[in-house]
Amino acid sequence: MTDPLLSVETVSRRYRLPRERLLRPAPVLTAVDRVSFRLNPGETLGIVGESGSGKSTLARMIMAFEPPDSGVIMFQGHDLARMRAPALRRLRPRFQMVFQDPYGSLDPRRSVGWSIAEPLRAIAADDPARVAEALRQVGLQPGDAGKYPHEFSGGQRQRIAIARAIVTRPALLVADEAVSALDVSVQAQILNLLMDLQETLGLAIVFISHDLRVVASLCDTVLVLQNGQAREAGPVADVLNRPAHPYTRSLLAAAGVSE
Ligand SMILES: Nc1ncnc2c1ncn2[C@@H]1O[C@H](COP(=O)(O)OP(=O)(O)OP(=O)(O)O)[C@@H](O)[C@H]1O
Ligand SMILES: [Mg+2]
Repeated sequence: MTDPLLSVETVSRRYRLPRERLLRPAPVLTAVDRVSFRLNPGETLGIVGESGSGKSTLARMIMAFEPPDSGVIMFQGHDLARMRAPALRRLRPRFQMVFQDPYGSLDPRRSVGWSIAEPLRAIAADDPARVAEALRQVGLQPGDAGKYPHEFSGGQRQRIAIARAIVTRPALLVADEAVSALDVSVQAQILNLLMDLQETLGLAIVFISHDLRVVASLCDTVLVLQNGQAREAGPVADVLNRPAHPYTRSLLAAAGVSE
């Protein structure tokens, strides 16, 4: 068996909430509760669950933006929470993230080429040839590097965000609601792009969505989260066709997916 690219072992994350009354202990919310999964190179895992189920919290831990309170996240054999800042900085190009809001994630005052090159500058020098290659890989023109975010549509801006995420040739892409803000027809184009990139670059993807239909079209396996806990996990077809947990069935019903 090959080593997984990413392994998440009984990972939890708790947040202390504001005190309800003076002198009472602050209540604690368990946003992610003992979640485990593995992802092999080149595979696509969907994480679904309603708002507040812990999807983005899990994504931030996978990206090492915040550490888990307990459990271990291993990426390419590295225990992320135990890495020192310089080593983590060197590893970062290998795992990149795309967010929901392409408007917020691009600096409006900087050219698109400048934004795409940002992760490159973090490790080495700016490289216009790599930026041009990334633009081509997401279906844009190398000449677009000199333009500004406002000159592009929402879907094109999400392509730019994806170009920035792949410019360092990562092994893993974490996409948190990356198509949720887009029109349905544009969503399909971006999903196709992600599928192409997965194939041509051998990219593994953690694809976070509240929409089971979108996950079904893209992912090999799916993890269903509710209140921070994994309710169900397995191949997409199995989970969609034979949901074992009532919560999965209610998500399917809400999405209008017939069993
Ligand atoms: N920094 C924080 N401090 C306190 N509570 C937090 C923090 N981040 C998240 N939470 C809480 O943790 C829970 C999970 O939040 P999270 O954002 O991970 O959910 P989500 O599944 O991504 O939801 P959505 O679909 O709305 O994006 C929520 O109850 C949220 O209010
Ligand atoms: Mg979220």
